[in-house]
Parts: sequence; structure tokens; C-alpha cells
Amino acid sequence: MSRVFNFSAGPSVLPDDVLKRAQAELLDWNGCGISPMEAGHRSHVFTEMAERCETTIRELIQIPDNYHVLFLSGGATSQFAMVPMNLLRDKKTAAYLVTGHWSKKASGEAARYCDIHQAGGLITEGGLVRLPEDNEITLGDDAAYLYYTDNETIEGIEFDRVPTHGDIPLVSDMTSNFLARPMDVSQYGVIFAAAQKNFGHAGVTLVIVRDDLIGDPLAFTPSMYNYKIHADSGSKSNTPPTYAWYFTSLMFDWIKSQGGIEVMAGHSKRRITKIYDVIDSTDFYLNNVHQHSRSKLNVPFTLRDPALDDLFLSEAKEANLCNLKGHRAVGGMRASVYLGMTDQGVDILVNFMKDFEKRNG
Ligand SMILES: Cc1ncc(COP(=O)(O)O)c(C=O)c1O
Repeated sequence: MSRVFNFSAGPSVLPDDVLKRAQAELLDWNGCGISPMEAGHRSHVFTEMAERCETTIRELIQIPDNYHVLFLSGGATSQFAMVPMNLLRDKKTAAYLVTGHWSKKASGEAARYCDIHQAGGLITEGGLVRLPEDNEITLGDDAAYLYYTDNETIEGIEFDRVPTHGDIPLVSDMTSNFLARPMDVSQYGVIFAAAQKNFGHAGVTLVIVRDDLIGDPLAFTPSMYNYKIHADSGSKSNTPPTYAWYFTSLMFDWIKSQGGIEVMAGHSKRRITKIYDVIDSTDFYLNNVHQHSRSKLNVPFTLRDPALDDLFLSEAKEANLCNLKGHRAVGGMRASVYLGMTDQGVDILVNFMKDFEKRNG
């Protein structure tokens, strides 16, 4: 079977060029006669890759020197516990913006360790949902940090700004939009993102953490959940997810070779606009997110007549457009357009949507 256009929300599409490079290096990595899967995490070849990987990501998003970059296992979900365990210190409360599935899950996990101040949530106006403005966010009393999810993958809701956070550290789950637009790392205490959307396959989670937030975890914090243990060992306190880390380094090289984050952001905007334009040009397709809060990575939409859902999905599949079914929590469809997607894939999707409407509208 030839390759299809994969609109999965994750694990998701990866660029052909990167997969081909991984294929070419599979049996003989950098002339050392072993596979990246077989290389020891303290070997010369792996250490060289890990150093280059960190240098490249620091360069791509200009990470200041007073931040550590960690390559961890346990997925983004482990960060839901690691963040409170490492950042609460002597505080009893943390503030959470609860704007969808993933921030709700993160605040639910943190509630095991502290009181949660809900700093804000989704607002419904005229049948559309939107994120809170800064004057609709409250930080509560003496919260240790403000946590939010920059892009809610399931609901297709993304912040178009850094939310107000006073003088407390800001923590951001960027799992589904990391590297899709320029960012100012210095505004954050912690940024984390699992690789399987924009920069690799499942197994490694990138954590960028400001140095002053490392080193004073809650007393019961397991070693593997302590940022300091990972920072001191170069993310090698146990055997790290070596192949996922290696693959992430290939993705960072690829993003750099394409021209960097500005170029990625341009692709994202151009591609996603084409899909929203089709949705907005008709009442055959519906998206219930306010313009300013719309995700530039995940577009959920419903058909006016849900009885056509199965036909839409099966015809899409025949056209090589795969994994367009919406998350079971919200139903309908969802097109996830991560960095590995191509203009061609989006054009074929958009033409399919127009044609499907013409035949069934
Ligand atoms: C925004 C966001 N946060 C967290 C997660 C959970 O990631 P993981 O499965 O790596 O724990 C996901 C997964 O889709 C996500 O989209």
C-alpha cells in the first residue's frame, strides 16, 4: 500500500525525509556498524547525538541559559504529577486554567497533592466557545504556579497569547503545538511536550524547566519524578528512551533544514486556514470555536447531518485521507495538521470536503 495522508491526533504523521533518514541509518549509524536502537545511552555515538539534539532545540527556540532541557519517558501525563511535585514547595495551592480535556486531567492529578484554584475556563458566547481573556483570569491567593494547556488537542482550542500569570511561574503543556510557532521561553517556568505530535514518535517527552524551579521537590517524590535527578544526570539517570530521543534529534535537524520555526508557523497557518475556510463557507460543516481561540493544529468539525458521518469517513479513506474521526469524547471529525503534514495532503482534504458537500449538501 502506498502512504496515505494521516490526520491522526497522535501518534501522527512524520515527514518522509525523516523516516527515510532513519531507514538509511537503521543498520549502520554514523559508520559505527550498529543501529541507533542498539547503541548504549552512554556510548560516544549516542552522547554526541544527545548533545547535538539539545544544541539544536536551544537554537530553534532560543532557550535561555538558565533553563535545563530534559528528555524524559512517561509521556506528557507524567508531567501532570511531576509539575506539582517539583513546583509546590511550601505552597498549598496551584492555579489551573481548565479549558478542555487535557487541562482537566492535569488539574485532577494535581488535586492529589494540593488545592486547585480554577483560574479560568471556557466561555460560551453566541453558541461558540472561547478562551478567557486576561481580565477573566484570576490567580487566587498564594498559588505556587499557573498551569495551562496551550493547545487543547481534543477540542481544537489554542491560546493566541501567553496568558497573564502575575509573578508566579507559568507552566505550559505544549504537547500538541510545540514548535508550530515562535515562542518566548523566558516567560515560562516549565514547558513540556510529548514528541508524538510534532517532533517524533511516542516515548520521549521534552521538558524545559527554569533552573530555580529544580531541586526542592515534595518529600515523597519518587526519584524518577524529581527534575533534579534528571537535570544532574543529563536525562540518563536510568536508560532513557534511546530510539525516540534519536528520532527527535532527526526531527529537530529537519525543522532546522526547512528554515526553522518561522517557516513551520507559516506552513501551519496556510494549511489550517484552508480547512477553516471550507468550514466557514457553508453551514454543511460546523466548528464551534471562536476565531481567536481556534487551534492551528487540530480542527474538530461536525457535519450538519451526523447521519452522513460514516459515509464521510469511508469515502475519505478511499481518497487516502485517514484518521479523520473525532475523539470519542466530542464525536464528529477532527483533522490534525502537525508539522509532518504536507500542502498536498491538506489540498486533497479540502477538495474532498468541498466535493462531499456538493454531492450530499
Ligand atoms: C495536550 C496534551 N497533553 C497531554 C497529552 C498526553 O500525552 P501522553 O499520552 O504522552 O501522556 C496529550 C495526548 O494526546 C495531549 O494532546
